[in-house]
Amino acid sequence: MPLLELQGVWYKYPGSLDYALRDVSLVVEEAKVYVVAGPNGAGKTTLLLVMAGLLEPEKGRVLFRGKPLKEQLPGARRHIGLLFQNPEHMLFNPVVYDEIAYVPRQLYTSEEYVRRAVEEAAEMVGLKHELLMRPTHMLSYGEKKLVALASILSYKPRLLLLDEPYTNLSRDYVEKINNIIRRHVEEGGSAVIVCHECLDSIRGLHVERLYMESGRIRPLSQ
Ligand SMILES: Nc1ncnc2c1ncn2[C@@H]1O[C@H](COP(=O)(O)OP(=O)(O)OP(=O)(O)O)[C@@H](O)[C@H]1O
Ligand SMILES: [Mg+2]
Repeated sequence: MPLLELQGVWYKYPGSLDYALRDVSLVVEEAKVYVVAGPNGAGKTTLLLVMAGLLEPEKGRVLFRGKPLKEQLPGARRHIGLLFQNPEHMLFNPVVYDEIAYVPRQLYTSEEYVRRAVEEAAEMVGLKHELLMRPTHMLSYGEKKLVALASILSYKPRLLLLDEPYTNLSRDYVEKINNIIRRHVEEGGSAVIVCHECLDSIRGLHVERLYMESGRIRPLSQ
């Protein structure tokens, strides 16, 4: 059974005349990575928001493990990790440690468990220990991106939804992100990456490529 499935999904933002998603169908299998490329305004971010259950389609179905995602919310959210396009929109805790600890604190009562989850996630993204007590606004852009990613990895979601994870990152940070994705897949997880121009960045990752334009999605022939 697929981890997540979109069947003929249509979505239009309130007040908008045009559909942002048009008849989008997509199957996300376990332990696989999908890359959706496409120009600005194609509907890539909207696609991830629908997959995360944050937007509800006007028509069509979103299934998580074979059942409507909507009926499994909010519980199913702990299996889905959404990395926003802009890390500034994600970080809302004053200190890095609390940012990464945020979801584990909702899941575990033991602060010892929380600490372990934070340290594991920080280690996974290669975040230096000294950064954990730093105010989040005093990080570089790339470090913010890693903290945002760590704040998702800390609760070990099965599905990673990554919106432009490589934008503005240098090659070593791109590699860090790819290593995290590889490890995630080795452990059985899946990922959907959306990006504008990332052919170079995804080199070395085993992925299925798709293309999105004007709200429609199609497989990308190599
Ligand atoms: N909150 C919103 N309200 C109304 N329209 C929106 C909203 N967010 C996005 N849109 C519109 O929906 C369409 C798809 O936008 P979306 O952000 O999903 O594209 P994208 O492929 O992620 O673009 P980019 O590469 O620039 O991030 C665009 O026409 C956009 O203007
Ligand atoms: Mg976008």
